[in-house]
Amino acid sequence: MSLIYKNNYELRKFVAPEIITGLDARLSVGRYIINLGGKKPMIVTDPSVSGQLWFSEILNNIESNDINYEIFEGVSENPRASETMDGAEQFLLEGCDLIVAIGGGSPIDCAKGISVVTSNGGYILDYEGVDEIRLPGPPLICIPTTAGTAADVSQFAIINDSVHMVKKAIISKKIVPDLALIDPVPLMTMSSHLTACTGMDALTHAIEAYVSNAQSALTDVHALEAIYLLRKFIEDAIRPDRSIETMYQMMLGSLLAGLAFSNASLGAVHAMAHSLGGYLDLPHGECNSILLSHIVGKNYESVPERYRLIAKKMGIATDELDDNNLKSKLTEHIAALRERVGISSKFEVPSLNDAMLDQMTENALMDPCMVTNPCVLSPNDVRDIYAGILVARP
Ligand SMILES: [Fe+2]
Repeated sequence: MSLIYKNNYELRKFVAPEIITGLDARLSVGRYIINLGGKKPMIVTDPSVSGQLWFSEILNNIESNDINYEIFEGVSENPRASETMDGAEQFLLEGCDLIVAIGGGSPIDCAKGISVVTSNGGYILDYEGVDEIRLPGPPLICIPTTAGTAADVSQFAIINDSVHMVKKAIISKKIVPDLALIDPVPLMTMSSHLTACTGMDALTHAIEAYVSNAQSALTDVHALEAIYLLRKFIEDAIRPDRSIETMYQMMLGSLLAGLAFSNASLGAVHAMAHSLGGYLDLPHGECNSILLSHIVGKNYESVPERYRLIAKKMGIATDELDDNNLKSKLTEHIAALRERVGISSKFEVPSLNDAMLDQMTENALMDPCMVTNPCVLSPNDVRDIYAGILVARP
């Protein structure tokens, strides 16, 4: 079966940073700081990675190039607007001129937010939405330490508005990093659960990009290869005896998914995950993992030929199945994969009421990622899915 390019003649753009992949790619950082004209970088990271040996090797590499740096590690799991503003203040106060983000999506998104505020001023959440940023920020080098968010190559930054309990998406080519150093070594110290959640997040990126209304021939090839790699390697990746080769394949899968979604955008899974994760402060990858099979079930009929190719890339024998049977098979396959990597089907929350469900539904329907979902979901569709995956703690 060949690819189906339904938007053959519509205009599309594709942006990406410079990307270095391979073993010890992180140790090119000092040379690239100099190449990009940096004299005093600010390293944006979080305490969960700063104790690792591979992290000190990055610092040693920077120091060996006679470069002084500042460290900002006040970033929580869902980076808050206030943390971004604190980081921007420190950047300006210390006279920094370049940012090195080291970590998963949270430090990288926070670093993007810092870069926006340092050049454009104002408050980070003023830049919510698509193409609201006027000036590019200081050079940004990213060293991702999970195979999931691909914030290191994307045009997206997700910042938590903790006052209104919602995550805001900032989407602009002005926040595409200048350089991504894609190295499998940091992945070896991820926990099994983090590997599972981030890997399922990456798989969600690839699937949502492939069925997005804004897909293109360029995003399709990346999305399909990412689905193949992530499905093939995620179960090996969570084992204690995983190899560096396995983690390299996961990293590639995440990178390809990132290139796809950065340019094709996402869909209802992410719109609902942003709302859910923002309201209840839940981990992003876990939200996506739980929502994915539900949204595939809702979306399937709008682009059945695309879901058929996704199923094929996931290893499902599709030839004998009509669309109805394939829809069930694919949703079951995704749910079974989630179970096998140790992620449950529901969230337990301290309390649950109608007002919470209504608010989360409203926030999800306003999220920019909802615009590129292949079909329009009704408020009842969204609310029913939330009601089905949230359970009040007894
Ligand atoms: Fe994501």
